[in-house]
Amino acid sequence: TEVPYMKNPEGIPYVIAHRGASGQLPDHSAASYATAYYDGAHFNEPDLQVTKDGVLVVMHDECMKSSTNIEDLTQFADRRTNATVSTNETYFECINDFLVNDFTWQELVESGLKLRSRYKERGEFYNSLFAPMRLEDAIDFMLDLNDRSPRENRKFKTGLYIETKSVGFYKQERNVDIAKLLYEVLEKYDLETVEKAAKKLPIFIQSFEQDSLLYFKTKTNLPTVQLMWDEQEYDLEWVTSYANGAGPKHTMLFNYDDEEYNLYKPSRLIEKCHELGMQVHPYTLQDDKLVYASNEIDEMIIWEAKGIDGVFTEFPRSTLSILKHS
Ligand code: G3P
Ligand code: CA
Repeated sequence: TEVPYMKNPEGIPYVIAHRGASGQLPDHSAASYATAYYDGAHFNEPDLQVTKDGVLVVMHDECMKSSTNIEDLTQFADRRTNATVSTNETYFECINDFLVNDFTWQELVESGLKLRSRYKERGEFYNSLFAPMRLEDAIDFMLDLNDRSPRENRKFKTGLYIETKSVGFYKQERNVDIAKLLYEVLEKYDLETVEKAAKKLPIFIQSFEQDSLLYFKTKTNLPTVQLMWDEQEYDLEWVTSYANGAGPKHTMLFNYDDEEYNLYKPSRLIEKCHELGMQVHPYTLQDDKLVYASNEIDEMIIWEAKGIDGVFTEFPRSTLSILKHS
């Protein structure tokens, strides 16, 4: 099927807000999603985890704990909640290593679990505004924003670019099929086909794990994107059999060339994907200084950007401004 929203009608690459406008506000908070919406992002990017009672929640990791110890920030960088490891600062009564799947949704709500920013240097947001959302909350919120705040000259509805996370973990350790749960939620909202999604809320399905993409390919015609990271080989022709696009780590767009004054050269990945009919949506621009082109990789992604079809960014407003004006 042809996907009506496969390409951005604005004629620039899609700006996909990575965990919302997460460069400024806590990952996956409603505030972060609203900011991305008003910044003009084309998509917000929910990561999915599952509670004990089968509720899809929008969180990056299966484990919720984070560390207050700066030394641990690398290890726990993605796990930013007020459930901390240090006993002095444990706000959350925890059991079983703080896995989302060890708690019911109600228990999570009652625990007072809060999301906080990954970036200490960008300000420690840490209060009751930042409660976790279910996928259903995120869908309701985006439907509301799109319906109630129409803006002139806006040719699109801000959609959801949903990532199934920890697919193998849930299947093997918890006997839970995250893709199936996602399909059921989309069906409940009348969003399970591309025709329906195009009218209400554009949806992409992305994953590092092929399983859930294959599941979606057999169930629906929603567009799917295979996420890729640079330490693995991908058979692009095979990927085209179940995915409409590739989501490579940004470093995969370049080859590091020692002979040539240590410059990065384009790797031709974009061209190869395009030749096979796949879209390319690299991840992730994480530095707002990209506006001033002071981050080498970010700058190069931006210059390569004319060839890509979308980009994940934590600063949707400045990314959009570069894409519109370069
Ligand atoms: O979809 C791109 C990106 O979100 C994948 O990495 O770890 O931030 O979910 P991660
Ligand atoms: Ca993600």
